[in-house]
Amino acid sequence: MRLVNEAELEGKRVLLRVDFNVPVKDGKVTDDTRIRSVLPTLRFLIDNRARVIIIAHQGRPKGQGYERAHTLEPVAACLGGLLNKEVRLTHDVLGLQTTQDVNDLPPGGVLMLENLRFDVREKENRPDFARALANLADVYVDDAFAAVHRAHASIVGITEFLPSYSGFLLYREIETFNRMLERPERPFVAILGGSKVSDKIKVLDALLEKVDALIIGGAMCFTLLAAQGYAVGASFKEDDWVAPAAKILEKSEQLGVQILLPSDIVVASSMSETADTLICPVSAIPEGMIGLDIGPATVEFYAQKIAEARTVFWNGPMGVFEMDAFANGTRKIATAVAMNQKAVTIVGGGDSIAALNKFGYNDLVSFISTGGGAALELLEGATLPGIAALEAD
Ligand code: 3PG
Repeated sequence: MRLVNEAELEGKRVLLRVDFNVPVKDGKVTDDTRIRSVLPTLRFLIDNRARVIIIAHQGRPKGQGYERAHTLEPVAACLGGLLNKEVRLTHDVLGLQTTQDVNDLPPGGVLMLENLRFDVREKENRPDFARALANLADVYVDDAFAAVHRAHASIVGITEFLPSYSGFLLYREIETFNRMLERPERPFVAILGGSKVSDKIKVLDALLEKVDALIIGGAMCFTLLAAQGYAVGASFKEDDWVAPAAKILEKSEQLGVQILLPSDIVVASSMSETADTLICPVSAIPEGMIGLDIGPATVEFYAQKIAEARTVFWNGPMGVFEMDAFANGTRKIATAVAMNQKAVTIVGGGDSIAALNKFGYNDLVSFISTGGGAALELLEGATLPGIAALEAD
């Protein structure tokens, strides 16, 4: 895969694919992590006097044209603020006006095309759409790590038509994950949380072969606890996934890799900030009560394991951390990860990143991955179409 610093850029029209699929509320970006992560590549292109055309998607529009709810307007405004520079947004994805806007773009200038997914051909990876995008530029740079698991026209098809390079973010994401999986400092501890085992079963399965210990929190622990025969009260669990979860536990025994599950749980009668809470051992979760956070004994044990690790990967919260009553587990795990300055610490997934931000630890970890689904697929060992396309170019 060629890196952007190998490309000839001066005066060239560069189509830069990014993942600016960020949360927006009332017309404002509420978390600009993904936008800031692309700034090194953008600044490099600007400093080298490229004419930068940013292409991106936002949300999941129908693909039948403009939808106000999915415009990239707030993103262009946010990026303009971060770059301290005008970032114009085109009215259409393609069309005469877009071509004119590109022609008017001076070296070092930045233009953003409207949401690619307003055109259905993007998701269908249609060659005519890829070719039309390519016609706007001389060079293609992909820095959209969070979207490389999608075989879309602006990620895969386009590489057929333009000399293609990786941006600095995409390169660093891949390097970081490859090093973590192939040459980790040991002990290597992975922490997985979130609500569904079904979302992460393949990651669990693949990581078991790489790590020294797997720490489990979040509601997904209840499906695994059920597989161990515990009654989990009214806690969220995926009944269809209890048997696959049991297989994972069996595999961990065969491999001699520890899967650490909670020994105590914070439960409440409802998921409400004002509900009375109770701490109970996993063997005594009262009927009708819902587990909403890991308990203090579990936190202490997990924190100890994290402190001893030399590589830590964290994806998914330990409880409903958005509510103070159930935030302790996630806060303490975030603290343990951030305080282990001897380890390489890698955090991925929207909720874990939001937790790091909430507790003020984002500058204390080694790497924050911008990829949600893409990172999980990489961890599963899947071939990601966007990476394969760049490697083939
Ligand atoms: C993401 O946010 O994970 C990426 O932007 C991909 O979005 P998608 O799941 O809508 O393809």
